[in-house]
Amino acid sequence: MTDDKQLCDIGFIGLGVMGKNLTLNLADNGYRIACFDLDQTKVDGILAQDTAERGNKAARIIGCRSYTELLSRLKAPHLIIVSVPAGEPVDHVCNHLIDAGIGADDIVVDTGNSLWTDSVAREQHFKGKFIFFSTAVSGGEVGARFGPSLMPSGDPYAWTRIKPVWEAISAKVDPATGKPLPAKGPGQPVTDGEPCATYIGPVGAGHYVKMVHNGIEYADMQLICEAYQVMRQGLAMSPKDIAATFRQWNQGVLNSYLIEISAEVLEKQDRETGKPLVDMIMDKAGQKGTGLWTAVSALQVGSPAQTIAQAVFARSISSLKKERVHAASMLKGPEPVELSSAEKQQAVDNLQDALYCSKICAYAQGFQLMDMASKEHGWKLDFAEIAKIWRAGCIIRAVFLQSITQAYANNDELANLLLDPFFASQIQAFQSKWRQAVADATLMGIPCAAMSSALNYYDSYRSEILPANLLQGQRDYFGAHTFERVDMPEGRKFHVEWSQPGQPQVQIKK
Ligand code: 6PG
Repeated sequence: MTDDKQLCDIGFIGLGVMGKNLTLNLADNGYRIACFDLDQTKVDGILAQDTAERGNKAARIIGCRSYTELLSRLKAPHLIIVSVPAGEPVDHVCNHLIDAGIGADDIVVDTGNSLWTDSVAREQHFKGKFIFFSTAVSGGEVGARFGPSLMPSGDPYAWTRIKPVWEAISAKVDPATGKPLPAKGPGQPVTDGEPCATYIGPVGAGHYVKMVHNGIEYADMQLICEAYQVMRQGLAMSPKDIAATFRQWNQGVLNSYLIEISAEVLEKQDRETGKPLVDMIMDKAGQKGTGLWTAVSALQVGSPAQTIAQAVFARSISSLKKERVHAASMLKGPEPVELSSAEKQQAVDNLQDALYCSKICAYAQGFQLMDMASKEHGWKLDFAEIAKIWRAGCIIRAVFLQSITQAYANNDELANLLLDPFFASQIQAFQSKWRQAVADATLMGIPCAAMSSALNYYDSYRSEILPANLLQGQRDYFGAHTFERVDMPEGRKFHVEWSQPGQPQVQIKK
């Protein structure tokens, strides 16, 4: 390969569902790609798709049989994008690239769902061998193909090289409305609008933000599922009627990708039985770990993200199917109550408001968590920018991300989304039906862990007084853990000899 014109702009490693679609998206945007996968059939598959899609035009994608061949096909300094499962496979690829002769100025971009601390460790570990950069990707298969939401982080020099590429292939938003610009199809990239790709910060920050995105995704999905269960079991509505309800909700403030696909899932008929497919799907939820990581991180930094954690626990309890089947035969709940159609309609209306308010709280928790992590790690995250790139391309894309963008654009020091005047007024207006929906579900014996935890988050956050005074008394009683007094300056610690008869002794501890 002596003629530079024949060399490729980008190397791509890992042609699974995400990798294949990202590669085709890059090709649609005019980049010439050299690709490699350990599974040669995947290389052959993408070459065949390129042939089918490009018509009479020259090949846009070159297949390689080894890491060495991949490097030999690239313009220098090399830009290599990796899309392999998170964890060891990423290190495996990086080490092979070193063996194949990658250089110190070359850039390797990890686009998997990596744990953010692994990205930080990798940047350190590979320093001097090549520049390790990370970019978290959201949007699933279709997003990867026609415009994902991208959360890049790492070396600022590397970012100057990657920026035009990511901006080209990312989803686009109409800046006036904040709504996604629709994809046009293969070979027709959307070139106008605001790109859903922004530099997040030092390495690891992007994957942290994506991790929280997934935590919010878990909460959002669980909230929708709880509304579904109340309608399905409590109100005896058919999947078709629930789908119609979701479609109606999708016209207003709840408009989102997740509501839209929920309606589609509920409308699908099972080919084998002719029943609604949703009734034939086993009620055991899987998880790959990013929601769990979010909940663990929230516990570690001390950020209350209970709705996200409850969504993870809801998946855990769902997977105990055998135990639940056994328990269902032994443990009784309330007797079912017959509702009139007016009462049923009221219950559905309550759920709509409950979903909206709970959703606001789940996002408030996610942004609060990112805020605490940002301060702890010195990342200086820009929340208006983060909300902006979540308006299209990603799984949690929703109309109300425009309002979140606005909230942080109006006040970049906003301590909590709930304190933004718009969101505060929304919850004020809708909370009574939210409370009623949680009460309805509880009285029906239908679990609504995420919805009720969101309400508890709201009520805890707005409480000037919480019972932690008694809790501190308990801790001091059994462990001499000390407490602060309301009538003394913050930080001064006191201890009481609780078991001594007569007036307890208060001591100031150093
Ligand atoms: C996205 C998704 C994506 C993936 C999740 C699914 O933003 O595109 O979040 O990353 O679908 O990892 O996670 P679970 O398998 O844990 O539900």
